[in-house]
Parts: sequence; C-alpha cells; structure tokens
Amino acid sequence: MNYFDCLPPTAKIDTIVSEHKRLQAWVNQKKKGFLRYRKPYEALSEFQANFVDCSGDTVLIGDKNQLSTAERLQVHEHLKSFMPWRKGPFSVFGNTIDSEWRSEKKWQRVMPVLPDLKGKMIADIGCNNGYYMFRMAAHEPKLVLGFEPSMQHYYCFKALNAMAGCNNLEIDLQGIEHLNLFKDCFDLVFLMGIIYHRPSPIDTLRDILTGLTPGGSLILESQGIPGDEPYALFPDNTYAKVPGTYFVPTGKCLYNWMKKAGFVNIDFFCSHPMSTEEQRKTEWMTFESYSDFIDPDNPRLTVEGYPAPVRIFLKGDKKE
Ligand SMILES: C[S@@+](CC[C@H](N)C(=O)[O-])C[C@H]1O[C@@H](n2cnc3c(N)ncnc32)[C@H](O)[C@@H]1O
Repeated sequence: MNYFDCLPPTAKIDTIVSEHKRLQAWVNQKKKGFLRYRKPYEALSEFQANFVDCSGDTVLIGDKNQLSTAERLQVHEHLKSFMPWRKGPFSVFGNTIDSEWRSEKKWQRVMPVLPDLKGKMIADIGCNNGYYMFRMAAHEPKLVLGFEPSMQHYYCFKALNAMAGCNNLEIDLQGIEHLNLFKDCFDLVFLMGIIYHRPSPIDTLRDILTGLTPGGSLILESQGIPGDEPYALFPDNTYAKVPGTYFVPTGKCLYNWMKKAGFVNIDFFCSHPMSTEEQRKTEWMTFESYSDFIDPDNPRLTVEGYPAPVRIFLKGDKKE
C-alpha cells in the first residue's frame, strides 16, 4: 500500500486536482513548456500547401493566394511562435521569414561537392528547422532523417513539413549521441555547425563512420580559427559569446581529426571569414548577432580577444 492509497477519498480528489494543476502549469509554462511549440505546430498543420518549391534560395511553402488575408495572418502569428528563427529563408503562404543566418549561402558552398542525392539515405545531424533538409528534398533522396534534440527546432520543422508534405523528410527528437543506433545506415551524413560543440570531436567523427555505409560520405562544416597550422583553440568560457564551445580548429586541424578518425579521400574544399552580411539581427531574430560577438575596435578578434571565426568545409568518405 502506498501513501496515496492511505488517503481518505476527499483528500485523494484534492491530491489529484492539485497534481493535475501542477502538471498543467508545467506544460504551459512560458519558457520551457513543450505546448509552447506543439500548439503552433498543431495549428499550422491545418494548412496544407498546394505548392512547394525547395529548389531556390528561399524555400517556398504554399502560395499567397491559397489563403484568405485572415488565414495568412493566423499563419504569420503561429510562425512567430518559433522565434528566434536562426535558419532560412522561407516563404510560407507569402509570409517571408528572414532568418538570422542566410543559410542559402552555406548551401551554395556545399552544393558543388555533393554526390547525386537521388535515392540516397541521408542524415542531417543538428538539422535545426530543416532548411537544408528541404533543399535536399529538391534532389529526390530516398529519405533525409534530421537529428534535432531541441523542442523548438523539432516542432518548427514538423510545422513546416506538415504544411509542405515532403514525405521523404523525417525528424527525430534525438542527438548525435544516438547515431550509433544506425549502424551502416546512411549514404551521406551532414554535420554542420556542430563539431566545435562536442567535447570529444574524434569520437564524434568515429560515431559518424559507424552510421555511414561503406563508401558513404560526410560533409563536415565547422566554425574555425584562421591559420595553416594544425591547432585548435580551447576557450576559457565562451567563444564569440557562444557557451558550450570546446575545440575551435583550423582547417588543417579538422583535416587531421578526420584522418585520425579513419576517413579517406579527405577534401578541404572551402574556407571563408564569417560576416555581418551572412549572420545578422532581423525582424525574425531580434537578439544579439554577429556584430555583437566581435571586438568593435578590431574585426579580427572576438569580444573575448580570440581570433575571429572563419568557416571551414571538408568532405571525407568511409572506406569501401
Ligand atoms: C549551430 S546550429 C547548426 C544548425 C545547422 N546544422 C546549420 O549548419 O546551420 C546547432 C544545432 O545543433 C543542435 N544540437 C544541439 N545539441 C545537439 C546534439 N547533441 N546532437 C545533435 N544536434 C544538436 C541545436 O539544437 C542546433 O539546431
């Protein structure tokens, strides 16, 4: 017999009511309650787009004229629930979402080295709202599975795809830690904007090898520091105000990590400085952005005094 069974009937009801209230308060809490994102997802799922185009820089979901003005406003309000929008741009029934990052620029850099995606099994690790997954969908993969442990981004993707209806895109509320559940599964893995958040980057790369089919490829993009030597910066606390940053490598260092993890045919195909043109505050992301992370008197340094970030891109294969 437990504590609850010992209570008189009225006390039992009171206990149930107060438990229910406590639970309701928890799920509805403004900051962390999961209904904060699930509710707008459910509301947006009522709108099915009769037109989707993922082939251009802006992912287009639904035509402006498909909805009444009132319905379009409703969609706009629900989309705002997912602010801050980090990745995009999207246009949803004519509502243009100008995200913090101009993600199309990263996609343009990656596109030239991609294998043919048609019929492929793909993982996008840390897929955020799925901007890149939609861009992949235009190339008719068999399936793109997004790994995303953040409730906000997970439901944002689900809302976008409930409207878009791309049936070869799926997302799971899981992190890179779960990749080793998918042994020899993916022809192609994208790991973009993640590895500098990993405390053990070579183990992370080994987990990716486990998830790849023999001969499969990894597209790896990371924030990095400039330089030709094989070094990684290990910041005291934040790097460019970002907490949870472990090793920030040069391109050569990232190359060596891939080699030591066991990748072959490694190609360091692109590097460029970050800029306010590509990462900035917008109407859909009103918090601090790149210009706030950089020393106002010296654009070569972060506010912490570290070398300002570059972006580095590599591709590598798992042995046949
Ligand atoms: C800097 S963003 C990069 C997003 C996107 N891949 C890109 O390149 O633009 C990092 C993403 O990783 C997600 N994330 C956080 N922890 C993760 C984990 N353990 N495994 C996979 N993704 C994670 C975050 O929620 C976020 O969406």
